Amino acid sequence: MSVLIRGGQVVNADQTERADVYCEGSTIKAVGPDLEAPAGAQVIDAGGAYVIPGGIDPHTHMQLPFMGTVASEDFFTGTAAGLAGGTTLIIDFVIPAPDQLPLDAWAQWTDWAQKACGDYTFHVAVTSWSDRVEEQMGVLAREHGVNSFKHFMAYKNAIMVEDDVLLQSFRRCLELGAIPTVHAENGDVVFLLQKALLNAGITGPEAHPLSRPPEVESEAAHRAITIAQMVGSPLYVVHVSAKETVEAIGRARATGQRVFGEILAQHLLIDDSVYRTGDWEHSARHVMSPPFRPKAHQDALWAALASGTCQTTATDHCCFNIEQKLAGKDNFTMIPNGTPGIEDRMAVLWSEGVRKGRLTPQEFVAVTSANCAQIFNIYPRRGRIAPGADAAISVWDPAGTRTISARTHHQRVDTNVFEGLEVTGINAVTISDGKVVFKDGQLDVERGAGKYLPRPTFPPVYSAVTLKNEIGKPSPVIREPSVHVTP
Ligand code: URP
Ligand code: ZN
Ligand code: ZN
Repeated sequence: MSVLIRGGQVVNADQTERADVYCEGSTIKAVGPDLEAPAGAQVIDAGGAYVIPGGIDPHTHMQLPFMGTVASEDFFTGTAAGLAGGTTLIIDFVIPAPDQLPLDAWAQWTDWAQKACGDYTFHVAVTSWSDRVEEQMGVLAREHGVNSFKHFMAYKNAIMVEDDVLLQSFRRCLELGAIPTVHAENGDVVFLLQKALLNAGITGPEAHPLSRPPEVESEAAHRAITIAQMVGSPLYVVHVSAKETVEAIGRARATGQRVFGEILAQHLLIDDSVYRTGDWEHSARHVMSPPFRPKAHQDALWAALASGTCQTTATDHCCFNIEQKLAGKDNFTMIPNGTPGIEDRMAVLWSEGVRKGRLTPQEFVAVTSANCAQIFNIYPRRGRIAPGADAAISVWDPAGTRTISARTHHQRVDTNVFEGLEVTGINAVTISDGKVVFKDGQLDVERGAGKYLPRPTFPPVYSAVTLKNEIGKPSPVIREPSVHVTP
């Protein structure tokens, strides 16, 4: 199978050039002007279009068992929706139940993902701590290509971990050459605020943002950043939604700490007025954590992307239908948290970012694929159009338009938080594993065709013994070295 993409502008994070792109099998073989199409090659006309690396969504939850239900989107439908929107790789989360060992959860998620039609890889969450968890992190890193471990600082009495776990796990990550990531919200404070709101008789979704104000997020982010600084590990903060968190990341980066931030497409556009419409269903459909913020935070998020303070964009794609959201009809703390987004992230980022002058096309590539590929150590295999890279490509039509709607999207959920938004700049063709899987508005995908992408660890910088001796001491020696790249 070979594909020649002819006549487009190839946009990488660092360079734009007029070039054809030739893919053979799963790999990009050549990038250059006026390439010949070998006999039998499928030719894609990219005249007037950009040819960009397939998007990477570093934060999805396909068929996640969560808050008493299971997310409605599975690995097949979710990766298909991603491919329709130009996203060719997801990093989903293996989340062990607190009494489950990481390798058992890994096996479970691996089984679920067999049906994926687009490529996937996994972060693994650390939801408890023991010698076996520590040991299995090593197995995951060395044998299964896991180079990132997630820590929930919220969801008390479920998957939240305390600071002692953060410290021990961050140290273990450093030892393994992996990167720790955090959902930064102070779960104890959220728990108390939820109780206070319920006691005051405020039970509807309007209470959700009141129980999770920006300080809840920025305090937790600052705490995680400080623990990472003590240990000497890098840190990746998922779904940064608040100006104060951006500031905490910026301060840490200014001192040389390798702290990275991820921003959701949803938080860039949607504000907290969705919780005050008086329409329970509409508000409940927007219940996710962190919640939507007052509009003023959005400028800080866009600026964080443009300035490089935050490096990646994601969706936290976690879908629940309205019947599932109704579990919290009388108690907002029981509304399953999550919103969809995988299909629309790229178009929203282009339409609201590039077209409105907030991002350049190269910055768009940086924040939709290249930076993520660097942070999670799969660059330039992903996140770059170059010979030798994976043939995972989007042909991007900057003039194409569509109106986002749950009635027409491919996501398996009855809502779309961008409902009615008209975007200019859309994915026209997707190539995944060297095959054309989306063209002329039609998906041509195969259940099970998605491949697991192992992510190598970074070279460890210290021996376990050194780390164990130094742990907890704010030593400049242990802070200094990190082999993690800074995009
Ligand atoms: O509301 C959200 N974000 N649901 C998914 C779980 C998480 O916190 O990432
Ligand atoms: Zn989260
Ligand atoms: Zn999430």
